[in-house]
Amino acid sequence: MRVLGIETSCDETGVALYDTATGLRAQALHSQVELHTVYGGVVPELASRDHVRRLLPLIEQVLGEAGVARTELDGIAYTAGPGLVGALMVGAAFGRSLAWSLGIPALGVHHMEGHLLAPMLEADPPAFPFVALLVSGGHTLLVDVTDVGRYQLLGESLDDAAGEAFDKTAKLLGLPYPGGPQLARLAESGDPSRFRFPRPMTARPGLDFSFSGLKTRVLLEVNKHKEAGTLTDATRADVARGFEEAVVETLAIKCERALAAQGRERLVIAGGVSANRRLRAVLEARLAEVGGEVFYARPEFCTDNGAMIAYAGARRLEAGAHEALAIVTRARWPLDTLPPLEEYA
Ligand code: KG4
Ligand code: ZN
Repeated sequence: MRVLGIETSCDETGVALYDTATGLRAQALHSQVELHTVYGGVVPELASRDHVRRLLPLIEQVLGEAGVARTELDGIAYTAGPGLVGALMVGAAFGRSLAWSLGIPALGVHHMEGHLLAPMLEADPPAFPFVALLVSGGHTLLVDVTDVGRYQLLGESLDDAAGEAFDKTAKLLGLPYPGGPQLARLAESGDPSRFRFPRPMTARPGLDFSFSGLKTRVLLEVNKHKEAGTLTDATRADVARGFEEAVVETLAIKCERALAAQGRERLVIAGGVSANRRLRAVLEARLAEVGGEVFYARPEFCTDNGAMIAYAGARRLEAGAHEALAIVTRARWPLDTLPPLEEYA
């Protein structure tokens, strides 16, 4: 089954072709970073308009690279939420209309399920069951996963998402949008022992997260150095490193706790923050000590992309998923309300 995947939930237009028999055939991405940089964040209306401009050429490019004609497609999967509604509507309206014109099924995919399943595109995919840590710009979720569509929410962020905390902290360190990867780069040259920021909500039991207080602690430290005239490049790097260590250790503590609570050995990390090298290294080292294993996607499949949507859609369409012709998108959409694959039979 050949499935075209379309991702337009935020500031990246992603398109891919996944074949259930032969795997990922082609994928292309257009990032809107340059468009939004001057505003210091994503401007929803500009994002929607750019998706309109980019989508069709990207689809032509992917089909061309895969050597597949439009009429050879068996299904179309598009991100239906969660995300910016205007941006989602571009992919949803286009995907559903194209599918209708070709007489093939279309399916609205949950963006976070796409992230969660992205490591399945790699050479050594995780076997079910596993615990998944989903860390993106909009969500921080710990989920117990027994199969595609069988998700039990274990914990989530009560305020800022992990990626959001990276972006906001980067901004107050004077780094341009999108700050997460830039902060991580700056942190590489920082001294991990100079600043010790709190590990929020780790001293009490539970699997929820809170990152907004951490960001405030960094703000206070930065302001102190600004006033004293000591906010040198070295200090900024040390603050970045201290912040990164705090987030990474907090995430690691909760992951270990979730694995123990669920009796699992495999941990999947997915979403933009799972591209963070320090997070990967710390989790790998800590889980190796207890006989656990960490799985993640290549960096370009950690952040938003069309391949994960094509894959998640293909798994569901293959199982017999079908939807009415209505174009439905959702700004909010709880992951644990998705149907398991057996429900399509
Ligand atoms: O999954 P994603 O591409 O988009 C959403 O669904 O939100 O995640 C984007 C988030 C941003 O907050 C970005 O700063 C963060 O992932 N991110 C990183 C890194 N790469 C991306 N955060 C820390 N370290 C990185 N290397
Ligand atoms: Zn995402």
